[in-house]
Amino acid sequence: MKTIKAIAIILAAVVLSAFSWKTPVYKDASQPVEKRVQDLLKRMTLQEKIMQMNQYIIGRNDNSNNRGKVVAKIPPEIGSLIYFYEDPETRNDIQKRAMEQTRLGIPVLLGFDVIHGYRTVFPVPLAQAASFNPGMTSKLNAIAASEAYSAGIDWTFAPMIDVCRDPRWGRIVECYGEDPYTNSVFCEAAVKGFQGKNLSDKGTIAACLKHFVCYGASEAGRDYVYTEVSDQTMWDTYLPPYEAGVKAGAQTVMSAFNNINGIPASANRHTLTDILKNGWGFDGLVVSDWDAIAQIKLNGMAQDAAECAELSVNAGVDLDMKDNAYAEHLEQLVKEGKVSIKRIDDAVARILRVKFRLGLFDDPYRENKPQEEVFMQQESLELSEKAAAESMVLLKNDSSVLPLRKGAHIALIGPLAEAKKDLLGSWRGKGRADETETLAAAMQREFDGRVTVVEGCSFKGEDRSGFAEALQAAQSADAVVLALGEKSGWSGENASRANIELPEIQQELLREVKKAGKPMVVVLFNGRPLVLTQDEPMADAILEAWFPGTRGAAAVAGTLSGRYNPSGKLPVTFPAHQGQIPIYYNKRLPARRGNQGYYFDVTVKPLYPFGHGLSYSNFESSPVTLSADKLSKGGKITASVTVKNTSAVDGAQTVLWFISDPSCRRVTRPEKELRHFEKKIIPAGASETFTFEIQPERDLSFPDSQGTRFIEAGKFIVSACGTQAEFTLE
Ligand code: GLC
Repeated sequence: MKTIKAIAIILAAVVLSAFSWKTPVYKDASQPVEKRVQDLLKRMTLQEKIMQMNQYIIGRNDNSNNRGKVVAKIPPEIGSLIYFYEDPETRNDIQKRAMEQTRLGIPVLLGFDVIHGYRTVFPVPLAQAASFNPGMTSKLNAIAASEAYSAGIDWTFAPMIDVCRDPRWGRIVECYGEDPYTNSVFCEAAVKGFQGKNLSDKGTIAACLKHFVCYGASEAGRDYVYTEVSDQTMWDTYLPPYEAGVKAGAQTVMSAFNNINGIPASANRHTLTDILKNGWGFDGLVVSDWDAIAQIKLNGMAQDAAECAELSVNAGVDLDMKDNAYAEHLEQLVKEGKVSIKRIDDAVARILRVKFRLGLFDDPYRENKPQEEVFMQQESLELSEKAAAESMVLLKNDSSVLPLRKGAHIALIGPLAEAKKDLLGSWRGKGRADETETLAAAMQREFDGRVTVVEGCSFKGEDRSGFAEALQAAQSADAVVLALGEKSGWSGENASRANIELPEIQQELLREVKKAGKPMVVVLFNGRPLVLTQDEPMADAILEAWFPGTRGAAAVAGTLSGRYNPSGKLPVTFPAHQGQIPIYYNKRLPARRGNQGYYFDVTVKPLYPFGHGLSYSNFESSPVTLSADKLSKGGKITASVTVKNTSAVDGAQTVLWFISDPSCRRVTRPEKELRHFEKKIIPAGASETFTFEIQPERDLSFPDSQGTRFIEAGKFIVSACGTQAEFTLE
């Protein structure tokens, strides 16, 4: 018996060693990722390494801002592609060529902009922030990842977490608002939604933190321009969401277009390597934004593409999106000693690491499922509607005009009454207008057909010919709903507006319809804060619907009827006047108070502040109380507030908790800083207690201008729901 056992053991050892001899480590799924990376790296030639550092596009490019030459014959050794197809068939062909027609069989990494949904489109990120429900964002992104994965995508270029305080900038629609903490919390939720528990699981895709960094500080709200950002502001405002994303395990980061204090973001070694890679230990890959490497020349820092490539790769950009600078120049730069092989190996190791973590080597192909089994599933659509409803912000509701009485006859007027594509917002992925319900259709269903629909006017222009019909419809109705706002293309990339009021023709329509003397509800579809000071007095109610996605119209109709009780809060300040910009809540204290430091001609107050949002319920809050009024650096105290729903309508309330440090010797702090928020449903007549456990290291420490966190003893203030309490850190 023993002999047989011994023989069996020897045989097993021989087979295993034969297996290991035949199968290289990098192809052995049982080996640790790092071993597979290093094993493959040492087998690669310089040219094979350089090809991994390039990304081309395949399919019809639907981003009108990004044109340029398309590489006709894509080499199978290419590292990555932006994949515009909606099914995995082409992907599978690409992977088959890469795995079988190349010397080492390295799969291709396929990316796409899955920003707020893939085929089922969800509310734009700015709207999701207004829900103050990051758990919802995780769920939405998990669905988006599943749809995109089935279509052949491995990697999304999201979340966009560029804090923005200038609503003229069109890309404010893509981020989670003006506050660093809100962007950080939603960033973590977004990454977890895309990447799931295990990146190699089917249905998960790699996330991408973008656009690194300070892109939201774009001068005068224009795109692709200079950004002047102090070190202190970089650490206080623009870096925190990225640090949160790296901690959440995001596998990729995208370097931005903007010029940071004179060093373009895609040539900025301090941000890309000192902070991101060496400081935070980020071990994934950095991809440049589209042509951002070549644009280093346009920014005025390089003579030619070779110099752009040298600056960018040495700064820390690992993968070149689209401009071919790495493919054309890196080999020569290495020969000239301007780029080290060490740096090349580091970049390629990062790219391979992401591919191994995604499981691409072991499972490179996608099942080509019927689209009706994958996209636009009923539960996805229901969640899209629920998310949109949670994102609505009720800005005004005089005399409780809303919700509209069932049975009322409604005149629905405005250029967005029958809009479809515009409700999807910018970066709508593969969302389709013909799969998007109009507000008119949703309201006919919600209000049993008692809706008269009149366009009244177009988005902009001088044509007033529809005004008479609009006024007549209003005169014949019990209430008027005006669907006003922006086209989806008026925000997003390369979509800045110097004038952020409603277009003049829409304001005139509002004034014209007002003559009917009926209750007036304005529903806004827009991708940025608007200056509504002229319009606000004419509206009895204003509902901010943002760009609410595939089922957004149903969410709006349901909110107007009371089926949904609005619970959104503004993640961005709505200025009262364009001249106030930049205007945001967490500003630093001025040297003078009272009537000094104000404008002669307009107020300094916003029309609607950060955190503003009404409900159909009525909430009353107790003053903030503390479990103690002093704590040590290792201790913690709990702040509490009790909120009572004194109405007869169940509703959800969000409590925003702010910290203030009124005298900080190291560096002054903003007037107040959001540090915690919580949303709860409070049934009619009931009360809920909200708490914030203050932990000094997390909540009372701040970065200095080098990013070193410090904590100072002294007086602090915690505030929520309009009241505050003081405590001392000893
Ligand atoms: C664009 C955008 C970026 C996007 C990329 C790929 O120019 O700046 O957000 O992910 O190109 O489409």
